[in-house]
Amino acid sequence: MIYMKILVVGSGGREHAIAKALAHSPTTELYAVMTRKNPGIAELAKGILICPETDIHAVAGFCREKNISYAFIGPEAPLEAGIVDILSESGVRCVGPSMMAARIETDKSFCRSLMCKYNIPGLPQYHIFHTGHEAEKFLRSSEDEYAIKPAGLTGGKGVRIMGEHLTREEAYTYVRNLSGDMVIEELLVGEEFTLQAFVDGIHLVPMPLVQDHKRAYEGDIGPNTGGMGAYTLPDHRFPFVTGEDYEKALTIMKQAISALASEGTPYLGILYGQFMNTARGPMVIEFNARFGDPEAMNVLSILKTDLTEIVRAVTSQSLDTMNIEFEHKATVCKYLVPEGYPDNPVSGQPIREGTGSSALCYYASVFRDGDHLVSQSSRTLAYVGIGDTLESAEKTAEEAASSVTGPVRHRRDIGTAGLLEKRIRHMQAIR
Ligand code: AMP
Ligand code: GLY
Repeated sequence: MIYMKILVVGSGGREHAIAKALAHSPTTELYAVMTRKNPGIAELAKGILICPETDIHAVAGFCREKNISYAFIGPEAPLEAGIVDILSESGVRCVGPSMMAARIETDKSFCRSLMCKYNIPGLPQYHIFHTGHEAEKFLRSSEDEYAIKPAGLTGGKGVRIMGEHLTREEAYTYVRNLSGDMVIEELLVGEEFTLQAFVDGIHLVPMPLVQDHKRAYEGDIGPNTGGMGAYTLPDHRFPFVTGEDYEKALTIMKQAISALASEGTPYLGILYGQFMNTARGPMVIEFNARFGDPEAMNVLSILKTDLTEIVRAVTSQSLDTMNIEFEHKATVCKYLVPEGYPDNPVSGQPIREGTGSSALCYYASVFRDGDHLVSQSSRTLAYVGIGDTLESAEKTAEEAASSVTGPVRHRRDIGTAGLLEKRIRHMQAIR
């Protein structure tokens, strides 16, 4: 048997899901580079390197030492640092874009300018400013409210919505104190959904639609987080996204890929499109150059096709020859987060999983210490329930999540009929 040595870069729940899907293949020999030792990934990997994921030269050295020929990059930070450029130079084929192509996520002003240059639909009205002073002058001259976004990476915590997070005066102060470029754009009103796709530079294969829950508390209140949980439906669509909306979103993603190819920076890897479905149809909130976390856990848990085969196809521009399939099941993912997360998380506390659940478990920011886990300051572990209906998937995930003991909490409302109904009614009111 010819083994394929594949490296997974990253230490969260998303990377545990990627590692698990890759390890499923009997021909995969898995390696991992992680900032901290994720117990789930460590269990699956033949060899691991603990180092910052942005230390791209150390990662390249590890690949040479272990003779690794493929790499799957989980988070955005190493992409921004140029991990794919460095690994490609030493012959490692990567699922993940080059530093230049990753700017579609890492530089929001690049993303908006690209959409504008190539006339890609779904572009909100936007303005790019190089100084806080110019931005403040603009805001003071307008009566409207805007979304304010630092152009660079902020770990999902830099965007501020006027009228929601900030008063006008606070908005002036916020932009005045921002350094670097910023994008100020029209406020979009609607329902958000995520479309992720495998991309090989030319071809794009979409995955089931997912909806994440950014807010820390039930009923979508509280501060923004990395994502508290997400769900998918058996038909891989949402009732608040029409067939026409879906086709428009998919076309936008394809146009973004061909725009990057025309720029001489072809895109390989996972493209994540965050859309706001509005009265005008889907508008682009942002693109990410990687899987979402938790969204990866939803879709990879029902991926029927061998992920290792997909890695081969992505890195050899042959996605068009593959038939990639997902089970027609609902999934509900719920993250357990430390009490006080995200503002004042308690960490270093023992947590114990319940027993007897059929939910899939993915580890994130936890250590294993003997028979229990020890929390850190970020999202700790996630459960994914799978079912023929949203209701049964939710029940499975909820039972597992509520069986965990220790100072952690989760959102009980994710994947419930009540929340889905609210989204549908909201969209009806907007249309
Ligand atoms: P981002 O970090 O770009 O994903 O933005 C974080 C969140 O801010 C998104 O998930 C949206 O809920 C919200 N957001 C971003 N841009 C806009 C916009 N133009 N209008 C309304 N909400 C937005
Ligand atoms: N869950 C949102 C993200 O990964 O960006």
